[in-house]
Amino acid sequence: MFLTKEEEKMLDGEYGEATRLAMRLIVKVGEALGAQKLININSAQVSGVSYKNIGDPGIQLLEDLVRLGGKSKILSTLNPAGMDIKNWKKMGIPKEFAEKQLKIISLYMQMDILPTCSCIPYLIGNSPKYREHVAWAESSAVTYANSVLGARTNREGGPLALASALTGKTAFYGFHMEENRFPTHYIELKAKLRYPADYSILGYVVGKKIKTGVPLFSYTRMPPDTECLKALSAGLATSGSISLFHIENYTIEAIIKNKQLQDGKSNMERIIVEERDIKPVFEEYKLTTNPDLIYIGCPHASIQEIGKIAQMLRNRKIKGDIEFWVGTAANIKILADRAGYTDIIEKSGGKIITDTCIVVSPLKILGFQKILTNSAKACYYLTGLEKLDVGIATLEEIIKTAVEGI
Ligand code: F3S
Repeated sequence: MFLTKEEEKMLDGEYGEATRLAMRLIVKVGEALGAQKLININSAQVSGVSYKNIGDPGIQLLEDLVRLGGKSKILSTLNPAGMDIKNWKKMGIPKEFAEKQLKIISLYMQMDILPTCSCIPYLIGNSPKYREHVAWAESSAVTYANSVLGARTNREGGPLALASALTGKTAFYGFHMEENRFPTHYIELKAKLRYPADYSILGYVVGKKIKTGVPLFSYTRMPPDTECLKALSAGLATSGSISLFHIENYTIEAIIKNKQLQDGKSNMERIIVEERDIKPVFEEYKLTTNPDLIYIGCPHASIQEIGKIAQMLRNRKIKGDIEFWVGTAANIKILADRAGYTDIIEKSGGKIITDTCIVVSPLKILGFQKILTNSAKACYYLTGLEKLDVGIATLEEIIKTAVEGI
């Protein structure tokens, strides 16, 4: 692999041991994947934050990097942690878990990585522009960044995204290269899609069907809004390893490359998605009794979603035996507080929790067994990894289940 003089110095340890180790990892992985060179990146989204996921070995690695002088060279943000950093007691998180989790956050901060603890960096200040190269972990954010923002990133693992944060570099391969961004499948949409839950399932269904590649969705007269786009991104990255999609005449690259896309359409594998593909997923993930936890915010909820939830819960009471969580980023919660949304949600018996989500928090320790959500990604992981009983429904249906007397 070709390295610049500067990159060679980094690899030789002239900028410290942490930089050397990070550089070595990037070069090794890049070489294994056939990259010819490294490129500069403008931001990193680092995963591997929850103590539930990385445990004591993860803490040890972070401590070593801090001791060796690791510092982020670029804008770097963090994925969700295992708990609400401020209000972990309200969540019922045990003290031992909280102490380890706070240690992890502090170690990342010592490396100048911002404690955003959210999977929607693109809505909270880490929002790369068209053609900007970044190195992000967190599959849903990767798909959103590539597809909606038109940024360039591969789906990095936590250690590689961290290495990119510490060097400002990534290997030039995969979705950083223009030729790999052209659609492979044409998805003709015949299903009626309205809610984020529908788009989440659409992503899940298409991911399951094609597994890998770049889908081009047919133009729809009701194009998905931000909430639906992030749900689609998460769904696609869950059941398949899809990190880039296009929507005809809607997403940025599809507009810019419209002529090429139309010309290339006949070479793409064609898949039709109808109502009968979407509906069975609502049946596959169905609860037969009331949930003990409702969770909205996978990916983390935007301020618009929180506003909508507040509007639906105003002057209503959530049933006493149901815990109701809206998961979001800490700075979005500040806005929700100011807008009065938090107050409405709390008065109805719900909570806005920040910095975490149901997949990376220790749900089993907290004693939850039956979860209702509007996210196919949450269903997939909670049934698969955690063996919990999980149902999916639209937000409207969820509120009906949650609230007394409607
Ligand atoms: Fe985000 Fe957690 Fe879902 S990290 S995409 S809320 S599983």
